[in-house]
Amino acid sequence: MCGIVGYVGSKNALEILLGGLRRLEYRGYDSAGYAVQSADGLIIRRCRGRVADLEALDPGDAVKATAGIAHTRWATHGEPSERNAHPQMDSTGRIALVHNGIIENYRALRRELQAQGIEFKSDTDTEVIAQLVGLEVTAGKGLFESVRSALARVQGAYGIAVISTLEPGTMVAARHGSPLVVGVGESEFIVASDVAAIISHTRDVIFLGEGEVVSVGLDGMSSDRTPGLLRDRVETVEWDLAEIEKNGFSHYMLKEIFSQPESLTNAFLGRIDLDEGTAHLGGLGLTPADMNAVQRIIITACGTSWHAALIGKYLIESLARVPVDVEYASEFRYRDFVISPGSIMFVISQSGETADTLAALRACRSRGCRVFGIVNVVGSTIARETDAGVYIHAGPEIGVASTKAFTSQVMVLSLVAMAFGRARGVLSRAQGVELAREIKLIPGKVSKILESSDVIASLAREFTFARNFLYLGRGYNYPVALEGALKLKEISYIHAEGYPAAEMKHGPIALIDEEMPVLVIAVKDAAYDKILSNIQEVRARRGRVLAVATEGDEEISSVSDHVLWVPAAVDPLMPLLTVIPLQLLAYHVATARGCDVDKPRNLAKSVTVE
Ligand code: AGP
Repeated sequence: MCGIVGYVGSKNALEILLGGLRRLEYRGYDSAGYAVQSADGLIIRRCRGRVADLEALDPGDAVKATAGIAHTRWATHGEPSERNAHPQMDSTGRIALVHNGIIENYRALRRELQAQGIEFKSDTDTEVIAQLVGLEVTAGKGLFESVRSALARVQGAYGIAVISTLEPGTMVAARHGSPLVVGVGESEFIVASDVAAIISHTRDVIFLGEGEVVSVGLDGMSSDRTPGLLRDRVETVEWDLAEIEKNGFSHYMLKEIFSQPESLTNAFLGRIDLDEGTAHLGGLGLTPADMNAVQRIIITACGTSWHAALIGKYLIESLARVPVDVEYASEFRYRDFVISPGSIMFVISQSGETADTLAALRACRSRGCRVFGIVNVVGSTIARETDAGVYIHAGPEIGVASTKAFTSQVMVLSLVAMAFGRARGVLSRAQGVELAREIKLIPGKVSKILESSDVIASLAREFTFARNFLYLGRGYNYPVALEGALKLKEISYIHAEGYPAAEMKHGPIALIDEEMPVLVIAVKDAAYDKILSNIQEVRARRGRVLAVATEGDEEISSVSDHVLWVPAAVDPLMPLLTVIPLQLLAYHVATARGCDVDKPRNLAKSVTVE
């Protein structure tokens, strides 16, 4: 998604703006630009392409500026180009504005403004806001009031930063649906879409609230929410930049795959109770009686998080005996859904900003249903709008393809299932203790699988030119097959399809031939014998079989072309292991194909548009 950086203070604004944009590159974008205040008005530089292309433009006197705004754009309205890049200006050239989000009524506003003689220079929705602000300034209002009046006219999602030639050293920022954070320094402020662009300057931040408008400048900070100084809202961010850097790995994605023993540990640390065989999830604010009263659970999410949700269904129904409905957020939000008595909802989101998931959350809450978050990004919109929730503590996930966040989501869902199962008396203490012990062994087992990365890399080269892939799994591993297929699709651009293994004979088997690699998750679980039959069906049609199998299985090699080994574990925890070789396979195939693994084409890390 788009990235915003704004600075007012006494330092070199351009250095801070461009450095901030580089920290936000991971969000996915196609053009970039900045505007700074100078004695002679605003200096604007914009281009299609990367931040490096923007830096290559002659800055002129921009190097002397101490206030400005900058932007990386992920196109939503208007193709990627210099004219559609941000900042966008008003007709007088006195206002510059950067925006993340979508203005839903921009066409009507554009027509209205054009009828007043305003000439638009871009195809963007954003320019409408800049023109509205410009009209308010022309009418004599100050920048802060002009932005507030302009925003009162727009519908949709925005995070914006605005500067003007009329108020040097002042920047106005506002958010509604798209996150915005204010870094509070010594006599300086940095506004950004997320903390990655801020923490190298200050760790003291204020997360703007929904609908909030603030003005920052040399005289301090004011808000339409809480007039006067906002120091009491300052929070300190713990993330280190090192967590965001690659730490020697060739890609963020590989670093994040290899950090899963640690991120999985962080997901259960302080929450597992080995004595009582349960999990303590204080963030949910649910007593055992509350959990006992729950009649139905709805889990909604998108993409990889939806795959985690589906595993959550299997876990909660098996361990806690609560019916679970798993819903694509983008479908659920528009459906005339029914909330039966005693229902609660979980929303799962790594970024905490996914528009469809946020909308589903709001739709459910509006009908009086309590909603709980399973989120990674602290302070994100979804995290703030749920009634309560559990952070997965996976740390910043920079690679667009989600890996460590997925396994931490599944880990947290395992803890939820355990807590509900023990509270409802369907999971005995002994069973809970055994599961807790197994959970604590998972990070070590993941580390063992990661040792096979080089083996998987050499195998991956065989599939560099594959055109299709089929992923099959049963039970807990059916959602893992879906996730493995998505991983391969989104970073290698090879078409891959995940399927319940038994369903293959109801159609997809027609696809099987010697050109079709079939990955089968065939671990020693309750479905093992059945999955062996599926492998035979594939082999009978000359399909090439890659099996994910349990260490020590002596039968699987005789029916598979390749085997990816994982340690044994109890069935409910197998997804945490079987997904690892699939993540590595996708990564190595994509790198063998020369794909941009961390920033795959057409994808964004956080889909805050609908
Ligand atoms: C993950 O590999 C995908 N890039 C994507 O499907 C992602 O899971 C989806 O957009 C949901 O994102 P969220 O978890 O941040 O809500």
